Amino acid sequence: MSDEQIDWGALKLAADAALPRAYAPYSSFRVGAAVLGADGRIFSAVNVENASYGLTVCAERNAIASAIAAGCRRFRALSIVCSGQDPAAPCGACRQVIAEFPPIAAVRSYGCAGAQLEIGPEQLLPSAFRLERG
Ligand code: THU
Repeated sequence: MSDEQIDWGALKLAADAALPRAYAPYSSFRVGAAVLGADGRIFSAVNVENASYGLTVCAERNAIASAIAAGCRRFRALSIVCSGQDPAAPCGACRQVIAEFPPIAAVRSYGCAGAQLEIGPEQLLPSAFRLERG
């Protein structure tokens, strides 16, 4: 799938559809994410918080985990929507997880007020840690 074939509109709609299902009783900051697999499948998820705050998992990582469980391991694009005015920038942990599964073309994040943030593969996680295997 080339960069031009990425249907960003459909990916945002999937994240929008998930957003109301966010479980965010502690921060009240709801996030929906949708990841596009290289095979064309879309997986969406939300942030899931916990009374033990550190156990919270971001929407992006939940979307990727859902895709992995369905056998999809190569991602082309990821969209993020949130209940805040400004687009949410993915956290460092999510950037490391996204970097694990190339070839991502870009991450697009949208705030409620209409602003959009685009993060290309070079900006995602410069000098990402990768385990040398073999
Ligand atoms: N959060 C995400 O799910 N994705 C992001 O990109 C930024 C932050 C969540 C984690 C937590 O549930 C809430 O937003 C506030 O940090």
